[in-house]
Amino acid sequence: MDYSVSSVLLLNGPNLNLLGTRQPEIYGYDTLADLESQCQKRARSLGLELECRQSNWEGQLIGWVHEARGKHEGIIINPAALTHTSVALMDALLGVDRPVVEVHLSNIHSREEFRHHSYVSRVAQAVICGLGPQGYLLAMDAMAHLLNSDKED
Ligand code: DQA
Repeated sequence: MDYSVSSVLLLNGPNLNLLGTRQPEIYGYDTLADLESQCQKRARSLGLELECRQSNWEGQLIGWVHEARGKHEGIIINPAALTHTSVALMDALLGVDRPVVEVHLSNIHSREEFRHHSYVSRVAQAVICGLGPQGYLLAMDAMAHLLNSDKED
């Protein structure tokens, strides 16, 4: 598919709508709106279009992944707790054949053992964790890089 401006979908999973007040010692004080507006700014400087979505529902996130076909060239996702549980979300990401960058605010590997495994990592081109909101901006840079190398092929 030949897009003149590459479009990227940024998905945030369950409970990330509570950012800013949810366990700020782990997730920081930036709200989801702060984070999304920083990403929009970075998208503009990278020449990307960015659509941001958040849901607490697995099925809704899967629906948006499906809709990415024909709409977005790449997906950046913080699947939140679904990271560790959702084969269905992993399968959806596999099914749409788009580059995926997985991002987490916290370092999931230094936390409880149940957070160490990610289904999404099996299908992601890159994983960034432990850098707070900065990780989202790096995920945007990484996605721009992945999409540019696709165009060069
Ligand atoms: C998270 C890490 C997950 O383990 C957790 O369930 C979240 C947020 C993160 O961004 O650090 O909700 O994805």
